[in-house]
Amino acid sequence: MKKENTTSMMLGLDVGTSRIVAARRSGEETETNSQLNAFVNVPYAPMTEKALKREEIPFERRGAEILVHGNEAPRFADLLNVEARRPMTLGVLNSGEREGLAVVRKIVSTLVGEVPKGDTRPRIAYSVPAVPLSGGAVTEEGLTYHEATLKGLLEDMGFETRAITEGLAVIYSELEDTNYTGIGISCGGGLCNVSLAYLSMPAINFSIPKAGDFIDSSTAAVTGDLATRVRLTKEEAFHFNGNFSDKLLQAVSVYYDDMINSLIAAMKEAFSNSRRMPKLSRPIPIVLSGGTATPTGFRDRFERALTATEFPLAISEIRMAGDPLTATARGALISVLAEN
Ligand SMILES: Nc1ncnc2c1ncn2[C@@H]1O[C@H](COP(=O)(O)OP(=O)(O)OP(=O)(O)O)[C@@H](O)[C@H]1O
Ligand SMILES: [Mg+2]
Repeated sequence: MKKENTTSMMLGLDVGTSRIVAARRSGEETETNSQLNAFVNVPYAPMTEKALKREEIPFERRGAEILVHGNEAPRFADLLNVEARRPMTLGVLNSGEREGLAVVRKIVSTLVGEVPKGDTRPRIAYSVPAVPLSGGAVTEEGLTYHEATLKGLLEDMGFETRAITEGLAVIYSELEDTNYTGIGISCGGGLCNVSLAYLSMPAINFSIPKAGDFIDSSTAAVTGDLATRVRLTKEEAFHFNGNFSDKLLQAVSVYYDDMINSLIAAMKEAFSNSRRMPKLSRPIPIVLSGGTATPTGFRDRFERALTATEFPLAISEIRMAGDPLTATARGALISVLAEN
C-alpha cells in the first residue's frame, strides 16, 4: 500500500508543441493520458454559448470570452471556421501568445488532476527540447526561458520538478535492453529531437526545427489549404510508398522526405564531431518515436535514407517505440521512478 502511494506521487510529463502527455504508474502498468496543446477563444455571445452546448463541446466562459482548450479545440475551430491557437511553437512556449501559459496550466491540470498538498510534494519530470544543431529557431536563452517558466508553473501547482531532454526520455522508455545505450529520436510537431546516450548518460542532444508543423505549413503553402486542414488529411490518410493522385498527399510526401533527409544530415554532422562522442565498442540501436514517426512505412523510409549515406556510427537496428505517442512521457516517468 505504501509503495502504491509513493509511486502515484510521481509523474512524467511531455510538454510538446502539439500535445501534452502525462504518465503515471498504476500497479505494474503505466497509464498515460493526453490533450492537444491548443485553444480557441472567441468573444462571448449567448448564441455561441447555445451552439456549443448543442454540439456538446465543453467550454469555459471567461468574462467577455469563451475559451475551449485541449482535444476539443480543433472541432470548435472548425465549427467557427477559425484557426486553433497554439501556446507553443518549435518546441518552446510562444512568447507572442499572451494566454499561452494559462492554457498550458489549464491543460496540465486537466491531465494530472488534484495535486496532493502535504509535507512531501509529488515529483514530476517534464520534457524539454534540445537546442537546434544549426541555431536559428530556438536559442540557448530561449530554451532557458522555456524550461524556467515551466518549472515555475509546475512548482506553483505543488510539484517538485526536474527537466529531462526529450531524446533522452525516449531512450529511458525504449532502450532498457541495451542498458540505455543508443540513439533516441522523437519526431514531433515543432521539432525532431535527438539524443545519443551511453549507459544512460547523454553524450549528444540536439534538435532540428523541421517536423509535423513544417510538413503541414509547407504543404499548405503549395496547395493553398489551411495548415489545420492539411494536418487532418495527413493524419487520416498519409502513408509512405503511396501513389498519390491527391496533390495534398503528394506534397506531404515531398516534405516528409525533406524532413527525413535533414534529420539524417544533422545526425551525421553531430556524430562526426568526435570530441563529445563516447568510444562505442559495438553497434548501437536507433529508436524512433513521436507523432510524425507514426505513418506506415516511416521506419523503412528512414532506414533506406540512412543506409544510402555514409553514416559515422555502426547501427545495430532501427526500431519504432512501443507507443510512439507516449514514449517521451513514459521515459520522463522512468527517470523519476529511478530516484526512489
Ligand atoms: N497518424 C499520423 N500521421 C502523420 N502525422 C501524425 C499522425 N498523428 C500525429 N501526427 C503528427 O505528429 C505531430 C505531433 O507529434 P507529437 O505529439 O509527438 O508532437 P509534440 O511532442 O507535441 O511536439 P514537439 O516534440 O515537437 O514539441 C503533429 O505534427 C501531428 O500532425
Ligand atoms: Mg515531443
